[in-house]
Amino acid sequence: MHKTYQLLKKSIYKIFSTAFSIKILLEMKLIGKDKSKIIKRLEYPYCYYIYAGDSEGELDFIHYGYWPNKKISVKQAQENLNRLLLSLIPKKVLDILDVGCGLGTTVKRLNRKGYNVIGISPDKALIAYSRKRFPQLKKDLILSKFEDYKPNKKFDLLLFEETLQYIEFDSIFTQSSRLLGKNKYMLICDEFSDGLTKDSVKDIEDTIKSAKKNKFKLILRKDITNKVIYTRELFVKRLKSKREEIISSFWKIRPTVSTKLDRLISSWEKDTKSFLKKRRSYEILMFKKIR
Ligand SMILES: C[S@@+](CC[C@H](N)C(=O)[O-])C[C@H]1O[C@@H](n2cnc3c(N)ncnc32)[C@H](O)[C@@H]1O
Repeated sequence: MHKTYQLLKKSIYKIFSTAFSIKILLEMKLIGKDKSKIIKRLEYPYCYYIYAGDSEGELDFIHYGYWPNKKISVKQAQENLNRLLLSLIPKKVLDILDVGCGLGTTVKRLNRKGYNVIGISPDKALIAYSRKRFPQLKKDLILSKFEDYKPNKKFDLLLFEETLQYIEFDSIFTQSSRLLGKNKYMLICDEFSDGLTKDSVKDIEDTIKSAKKNKFKLILRKDITNKVIYTRELFVKRLKSKREEIISSFWKIRPTVSTKLDRLISSWEKDTKSFLKKRRSYEILMFKKIR
């Protein structure tokens, strides 16, 4: 009886999730070039983030910007961070997994540089959108959670470009160990907490300890908080000033927009304070699998 119930539950879930994917794909086909409709369908909070950032032209990433000064655009600042990260990829790396591939730009870029690259993300709308942006990479942009991903090959480098915070803590190094060959790498940039206050991002010391326990050696650690923090300040300012515009433009598709938007603004204000009090940091880390 229990088994029949489980099977039934699984089939219903499958039907719903297939219907949802088909709905998104059909919408994308029907709305053609109307990107703003696609963006509104993206998972919270990416929909608001991209909407707020996009006023200067199409964004290529959903991550912080790296600001040598405050005069450059969000697009340029995000580009700076991506370039910095990609410049750290060690020589001899060939096979790369982009964990949480966002809008697909890094996959596209690495592919053009000659790497064998696969991007994964569990967000159906994001994967559909990135496949639409880069149709030639359709088969390399895969719908999957990192924790569940079971490829039939090993990688030389796992790239976590602002995605570590979303991965279940206990899976980070065990799954990375499964996916990497010996002496291969994890390259990460993300927000981290100092573990003293309750926070949604990973604690830096726990992360480093867990790496060691799972036979990963920390070979690079660079704190770039000062260069990225302006992104939060700018987005809070933009979301506040565009509040009414966002609500009137999103409410038909997202009836809860005003509550969610206000929650997002206040959580980002709180995060900015954590950065200023040095309870949060933004860091680049590289680990090498030693066994
Ligand atoms: C902040 S965005 C960063 C996107 C992209 N790396 C970039 O820098 O533009 C976070 C990404 O992580 C993905 N993500 C969330 N949970 C994940 C998981 N468990 N496994 C893999 N990717 C995940 C999201 O779908 C999204 O693509």
